[in-house]
Amino acid sequence: MTEQPAGTARLTIDPDFTLGTVDPRLYGTFVEHMGRCVYTGIHEPAHAEADEHGFRSDVAGLVRELGTGLVRYPGGNFVSGYHWEDGIGPAEDRPRRIDLAWRSIETNQVGTDEFLGWARRQDLEPMMAVNLGTRGIDAARALVEYCNVPGGTAWSDLRIKNGTRDPHGVRLWCLGNEMDGPWQTGHTTATQYGQLAAQAGKAMRQVDPSIELVACGSSNAEMATFGEWEREVLHQTYDEVDYLSLHAYYEEKDGDRASFLASGARMDAYIANVVATADHVRAVRRSRKRMLLSFDEWNVWYQSRFPGERALPLEETPRLIEDTYSVTDAAVVGSLLMTLLRHADRVAIACLAQLVNVIGPIRAEPGGPSWRQTTFHPFALTARYARGTVLRTEVSGPVVETRRHGPVQALDTATTLDEETGALTVLAVNRDQQENLGLRAALRGFGSRYRVVEHLVIADSDPDAANTEAQPDRVTPRPVPDTRVTGEDELEAVLPPVSWSVIRLEPES
Ligand code: AHR
Repeated sequence: MTEQPAGTARLTIDPDFTLGTVDPRLYGTFVEHMGRCVYTGIHEPAHAEADEHGFRSDVAGLVRELGTGLVRYPGGNFVSGYHWEDGIGPAEDRPRRIDLAWRSIETNQVGTDEFLGWARRQDLEPMMAVNLGTRGIDAARALVEYCNVPGGTAWSDLRIKNGTRDPHGVRLWCLGNEMDGPWQTGHTTATQYGQLAAQAGKAMRQVDPSIELVACGSSNAEMATFGEWEREVLHQTYDEVDYLSLHAYYEEKDGDRASFLASGARMDAYIANVVATADHVRAVRRSRKRMLLSFDEWNVWYQSRFPGERALPLEETPRLIEDTYSVTDAAVVGSLLMTLLRHADRVAIACLAQLVNVIGPIRAEPGGPSWRQTTFHPFALTARYARGTVLRTEVSGPVVETRRHGPVQALDTATTLDEETGALTVLAVNRDQQENLGLRAALRGFGSRYRVVEHLVIADSDPDAANTEAQPDRVTPRPVPDTRVTGEDELEAVLPPVSWSVIRLEPES
């Protein structure tokens, strides 16, 4: 029997209160040449589970199960020193280079053709980044030609000679990475970056007019140049680009778990500020175009534990930022996904950074097993079930006091409606660390009665519980039996402390 909640959060779910459509690109991820994301992550020719291309089929299976449909590549900071030409042609001829971003040795055994071939076999849309750090317009437009032109030109014929007859057809392109960050190779000013991005973007589009372009916003909302960077970059690029990027990583600091659990509030404010800045530029330019956002790096990352790249020994395939995630981290990841969904009217692309090993939802040991981290589950279940239209819901109920964000609702939630099937998905996080939270959602205006199909929860008596190689299934989604729709058409559920839930409903036939 479920323990009775100390408080109850109330909301109304009405199909007429719509926020936006869920773009499947919101469920993107990110593969960077960093640490063990590529080598011994997705790719390990000597592994017993390697396929004929040298990619791990056990990891490939988990990537499928994760439900991501889009993957960004090859960086990240890595891209700002990358010569993409090093990664094409016969593997034995490829140079070993120093990757400045992570002070690692890059063997170039996986490059553009291998990665895009893997993405295609995995049914993943690729999102490629070009190097605007040490390179520029020419290398960028040559890469688009290599990837997207069918043949009959020098770069496209080279792709064919290298074994890929059909064009890769990459639609989404990032114009550099975090160019506002002093750590970035080629770090520059907003004006210089904006001018270069506009020119590179123009040349890339002259090669392939069908591509979509993402300009770099700030590396995070705490950058001293935040806001002004976005304004100036958009001023320079507004007519050339389709999206502006956002990046954010969250972690628990100074034992302040309440603020950490409310990280969604921080992400929410960040998105609202970027939208306001983009709309300011739009107004000043009298433009009809509404800039969309690409939140192409987000996650929980215990960044304060990273010693910094200069402290790293120069190695091949080092273990970098292989954070092990807890139940609390899973609740935060689930909550960040809800925040993204609630901004579906402006955030069209989002990438959980990264996919495997490097702050990834999937872990893989060299020559060993692979497993799902706790954060895998909220991502996979949200990607599977939160489809269709996002509904606007207002919550009233118990609040949690936080040092960083002030009072926040104990319940964080988002609801989607699949208009074709009538399926409703209610996502919910209880941010309270001690008490169960009741959820009562009035279902209004649906014209038919609903029933609960399933309520799955991620929760544990130990909020620091994690999945490890020894215990890969310590934390998995559990069914909650008592969740129901009452005779008054109210969804009634109990959410344990520090938990993430998905509640699926469908119309009664
Ligand atoms: O995802 C790890 C790093 O975080 C990326 O390379 C960079 O873009 C960001 O700072």
